[in-house]
Amino acid sequence: MNQRKVVIVTGSSAGGIGHCVAHGLKTHGYRVFATARKAEDVEKLKSEGLESIQLDLADSNSINSAVDEILKLTDGRVDVLFNNGAFGQPGAVEDLTREVLRFQFETNLFGTHELTNRIIPVMRKQGHGRIIQNSSLLGYVALRFRGAYNASKFALEGLTDTLRLELQGSGIQISLIEPGPVTSRFRTNGFELYKKNIDKDKSVFKESYEATERRLKKEGPAAPFTLPPEAVLKKVIHAIESKRPKIRYRVTFPAHLFAWLKRILSSRRLDSVLGKVE
Ligand SMILES: NC(=O)c1ccc[n+]([C@@H]2O[C@H](COP(=O)([O-])OP(=O)(O)OC[C@H]3O[C@@H](n4cnc5c(N)ncnc54)[C@H](OP(=O)(O)O)[C@@H]3O)[C@@H](O)[C@H]2O)c1
Repeated sequence: MNQRKVVIVTGSSAGGIGHCVAHGLKTHGYRVFATARKAEDVEKLKSEGLESIQLDLADSNSINSAVDEILKLTDGRVDVLFNNGAFGQPGAVEDLTREVLRFQFETNLFGTHELTNRIIPVMRKQGHGRIIQNSSLLGYVALRFRGAYNASKFALEGLTDTLRLELQGSGIQISLIEPGPVTSRFRTNGFELYKKNIDKDKSVFKESYEATERRLKKEGPAAPFTLPPEAVLKKVIHAIESKRPKIRYRVTFPAHLFAWLKRILSSRRLDSVLGKVE
């Protein structure tokens, strides 16, 4: 039997954090199941030497068949679940339809929750396991035009904080990773979703949207203090291998800065800082 620790990574398609973490953990000696939403990405991951299975977090059948297949291949063993797959729907809160907001939650929260609930009994039976939630700096501070994503990551933080209490004594440890800006396809994907789902011509924020479009075209997708995805990989390895994994891992300078500002400022003073962030 294969004794390597089994890791499941969601959202492993090329160019993002999941892809970097899947390869990094494989190099580190783990047996990695790099899952991806699209069939063509599964083939690509296989061609790169990874074990890969299709898993779309917005689809319960896809989650269930992916878990069944992995458990079959590992004789029922899962040591680590890295809940990474997610997207960010940009747009002002008042420009989000119920359907668009729901879809944000279907992937970022409900799918992640459903997958986690399939893995927890496996880990409880083993008496050990690590669950690592890729949250965000936007899981604890809000920014304008990120309401859907903010809400999904705040909700993930809430669910995780509760789960951590409920997992006490089970041998399962759960950690949150809270990155600030990291190089990936996140912003490019978000821009496409903005174009698809936000009707700027009907919005009171039309001018702000157009200013953001101009800024993105001029500056390119990278925000200040952006780090490569290896910065997240380092925290994931700590969360897996440390005897006492941290509850929260902050990644990038802005993640630390805003956590500190949230601690020391009143909500009103924090708002005046956050309101200036583009
Ligand atoms: N990059 C940042 O600055 C940053 C900062 C804080 C937190 N994060 C978090 O980091 C994680 C990874 O994002 P990233 O930056 O690497 O962005 P990314 O390059 O866009 O990767 C996101 C991954 O999630 C996948 N995904 C989207 N919808 C999915 C679904 N329904 N089912 C399964 N997978 C799905 C994407 O698959 P497709 O390619 O098929 O769309 C992609 O593989 C996310 O949880 C994100 O919220 C990122």
